[in-house]
Amino acid sequence: MRPPRPALLLILPCLLLALAACRRSPGPQAFDYVIGVSLANLTEPWRITMRDEIMDEAARHGNLRIVFTDAADSNARQIQDVHTLLDSGIDLLIISPNQSEALSPVITEAYLRIPVILLDRSVIGFDYTLFIGPDNRLIGKQAGQYVAELLGPKGGKIVEILGRSGSPPVLDRSVGFQEAVARQGNIAIVDRLVADWLRDKAEDQLTSWLAKHGRVDVIFAQNDAMADGARRAASKLGIDGIRVVGIDGLPGPNGGIELVKSGALSATFTCPTGGKEAVIYALDILHHEEGIPKKMILRTSLVTRKTIENGALAAAPRPRLPPDHRIVLGFAQVGKESDWRLADTESIKTAAREAGIELIFRDGEQKQENQIKAIREFIAKKVDVIAFSANVESGWGEVLREAKAAGIPVFIIDRPVDEKDESLWVSLMGSDFLEEGRRAARWLIEYLHTQKPVNIVELQGTIGSAPAIDRKIGFEEVLKDHPNYRIIVSESGDFFRSVGREVMQKILKELADKNLRMDVLFAHNDDMAIGAIAAMEAAGLKPGKDVVIVSVDAIRDAFKAMIAGKLNCTVECSPLLGPQLMKAVKDYMSGQDLPVRIVTSEVVFPAEVARAVLPTRKY
Ligand code: AHR
Repeated sequence: MRPPRPALLLILPCLLLALAACRRSPGPQAFDYVIGVSLANLTEPWRITMRDEIMDEAARHGNLRIVFTDAADSNARQIQDVHTLLDSGIDLLIISPNQSEALSPVITEAYLRIPVILLDRSVIGFDYTLFIGPDNRLIGKQAGQYVAELLGPKGGKIVEILGRSGSPPVLDRSVGFQEAVARQGNIAIVDRLVADWLRDKAEDQLTSWLAKHGRVDVIFAQNDAMADGARRAASKLGIDGIRVVGIDGLPGPNGGIELVKSGALSATFTCPTGGKEAVIYALDILHHEEGIPKKMILRTSLVTRKTIENGALAAAPRPRLPPDHRIVLGFAQVGKESDWRLADTESIKTAAREAGIELIFRDGEQKQENQIKAIREFIAKKVDVIAFSANVESGWGEVLREAKAAGIPVFIIDRPVDEKDESLWVSLMGSDFLEEGRRAARWLIEYLHTQKPVNIVELQGTIGSAPAIDRKIGFEEVLKDHPNYRIIVSESGDFFRSVGREVMQKILKELADKNLRMDVLFAHNDDMAIGAIAAMEAAGLKPGKDVVIVSVDAIRDAFKAMIAGKLNCTVECSPLLGPQLMKAVKDYMSGQDLPVRIVTSEVVFPAEVARAVLPTRKY
């Protein structure tokens, strides 16, 4: 790890003046963009690595200058830093917020002026261009699963060491960890100590704790520095046999990988800083590239002596392709159920053509077995890459393992699978279906703004598919706090317009028989909503007035229905995944590491904006 480079941090105002003078002036000093990077602190090794990664990547791009600020763990100072950076005319802000809530307003302020990339910690709401970071809850969960396996059926006692109170990863890692260990009844987290991410503080805390309470079976520390401190405390007291697990997995002296190799820690989990990716995406944003996602979740790996020895930590080897090799991509599509799907297919075909990628396209015609057959065909044809959108969540393990054994990388787009082994695919790219369900419910509650009983009919998508499962969960999660909103009927319309119509006809009849009123329709896609609208009109109802309708996708027909006053709101779910997929395929084949999850950028369109927005819609 390199020592901090204080010159860049201390002389910010002078540096900014110098940068202003050099910007775009001819000569070797000239550059096009200034990126401001506001860091929460520069004391933790992980954050120093983040800064180094940013500097190393920036050095590869001659047209870029980076200005760092260090908030020294102070919210007030970081707010001030952002103002200083904004006033100096930076083109883009990269920020790793000290605390989410306190920093959210100033980040919104910045976002109204320039693009903002959030690194590692998110904010309240969606006022940012792109989030890059780990899934801390998942890391906690993976750590918990590992500890549960380590302890086995006998179970045992754990002490958890937490980072600085109020810093976002603390809660997420802790919740994930607890969720996983709680599954095994005989494991007890006997205490939680706060050591502010610092090794020495953890050592002091644990020295007192162990002296008072004696041995435990496992110490789980939320970073490797604290894990190292805990391990030192135990060995100082001569207590053997405590297994210590950390998070970060940094390379280099005293980094987590070294600590695992030396046996000081039993395991750690890598937590990439995203510094490199932030610079790469900053340039894409500044170049106005299309298909910039909203979130990129970085991959986490378990580090044990075994995973180090068997090379599992190394990136998967990429085939050496001759320079003129044309990448062959096999794509297994779900079917043709909706306008969304047709737009998705078109986007993939066009993007492949434009990227010079040879596409072998197979339509699964709504059947999982057809998609599995197509994937096997791609394996037999020895394509370079396979991509698919999973009709339903489960049942993909076997064919994915076959692709892995054949050495063919797999990209999942749009709909995730529920396989635990994330090494079976390179990246999952698409929407956040849970958030779409939440957005529909939040819009509804704000729109109706009532305490009176509200009867909701839900038209679900294909049973067992990720969007149907997650949109339902997200919608219900928000409704939980509003008990006057009640889902009285929930049936599947399979994402088809025609089925939406038929199912709504049947539901209307049943409701009439039971003398029940429908106040709201939540349809998991626009096509089913449009089908349902036709059924309501045939039954003499005025959709959009007698029944408030909110659906998902934001296809052009939904905007037309909103302009006609028949639909009240649509939540965007973008099918334009082709450019993102082709970029990812090319990046991967040229040796770049990719995030495990790429989430598309999306918004909510209420009827009031429909007329203005329709001409800009691409699907
Ligand atoms: O997986 C995305 C969903 O699939 C869309 O919301 C729906 O219209 C589609 O068919």
